[in-house]
Amino acid sequence: MNNRVEQVRQEALQAIAQASGLEELQQVRNTYLSKKGAVQELMSLMRNLSREEKPAFGQLVNACKDAVTKALEEKQAELGKAAMNARLASEKLDITVPGDRFEIGTVHPLMLMQREIEDLFIGMGYKVAEGPEVELDHYNFELANIPKDHPARDMQDTFYIDPNTLLRTHTTAMQMRELEKAEGKTPIKLICPGKVYRRDDDDATHSHQFMQVEGLVVGENVTLADLKGTLTYMADTIFGGGRKVRFRPSYFPFTEPSVEVDVSCPFCNGKGCSVCKGSGWIEILGAGMVHPHVLEMNGFDSEKCSGFAFGVGLERVTMLKYGIDDIRNFYTNDMRFLKIFDRYD
Ligand code: PHE
Repeated sequence: MNNRVEQVRQEALQAIAQASGLEELQQVRNTYLSKKGAVQELMSLMRNLSREEKPAFGQLVNACKDAVTKALEEKQAELGKAAMNARLASEKLDITVPGDRFEIGTVHPLMLMQREIEDLFIGMGYKVAEGPEVELDHYNFELANIPKDHPARDMQDTFYIDPNTLLRTHTTAMQMRELEKAEGKTPIKLICPGKVYRRDDDDATHSHQFMQVEGLVVGENVTLADLKGTLTYMADTIFGGGRKVRFRPSYFPFTEPSVEVDVSCPFCNGKGCSVCKGSGWIEILGAGMVHPHVLEMNGFDSEKCSGFAFGVGLERVTMLKYGIDDIRNFYTNDMRFLKIFDRYD
C-alpha cells in the first residue's frame, strides 16, 4: 500500500512537470486532488487498515497530498508567469514607429472671402439668403426684367437644362425669390452668396463656374448715396481703410440707374501702378437702384419704396486682395496654392 502512495506521488509529480499550460495543469489537479481524485482514493484505502496502521498511513498520504499541492502551486506560478510574458510580448507597442499623418485641409480662399463679406453685412443687420443653383428662367431672367428675346440675355451666356430651367447666371435670381417672398413688405436687407454659371471658355480671368455675392436693400427713401456708403464700407473692410469708391454709368436690365463701381487702387493708393494699369482705380462690381418695374413685378409699390442692389464677383476681389493672377487656381485644388491661405484663417 505504501508503494501505491509512492506511485501516485511519482505519477502526479511527473504529470505536473509535463503540463504545458494552465488548462492542462487544472486537469492534473482534478485527476489527483479532487474528491474523486487519486489522493482521495488513497485515503479510502485506510478502511482496510488496522487501528495501529492507520496513523502512519494517514501521514504518508497527507505528505503525498502536500507534495502534490506544493508542486501544483509552483507549476501554476511558473505557467502563469510564462503566460503573462507571452501576452506582454504579443501586445508590445513599438512607440518608435512613425504615426499616421492626417492631412488637415485649409479654408478655401473663396470661403475666406465669403465669410469676411458675410460677417461685415451681418454686422450691419443684413440676412444671408441661399437658394438653388439649378434655377427657373422665371427667377433668373423674367422677374429680373429680362424677358425672352431681350437682347440682355446675350450678356450672360447660359447653360440651359430645358427651356425653362437653367444653371443660374447670377445670384440676382435669389434676390427675385426673396423679393417675391416678401409680398411687398419692407424693409428688406439681405445678401445672397453662391455659385453661378456661364458658358465662358475658361482662361486666366474667366471661369464657367464662379461665385457672386449680391446685396439687396429695399425700403423707404433708399438712395444711391446709401449704396455708395455701403460699398465704401465694404471696400474698406476688404482692402483696408481709406478706400474711395466711384460710380460710372452702366447698364443692367434690373437696375435704373445702373453703375459700375470702381475702388481706389489699394496697391498704389490711387497713384497708378501695374495692377490698376496706371489709372488709380479698379473695377470691382456692378450695382444700381432696383428698377421700378422689378419692384412692381414682385408686388412692391415703387412709389412708396426704393432699393439698391449690387453684385460682386468673389473671385475678382479675392484675386485683387491676394495678388492672384489666374482664376483657375481656385478650382484646380493644388495644395501648394491652397496651403498659402492657412495663415489667414
Ligand atoms: N447680376 C449682375 C451680374 O451678374 C450684377 C448686378 C447685381 C448688377 C445687382 C447690378 C445689381 O453681372
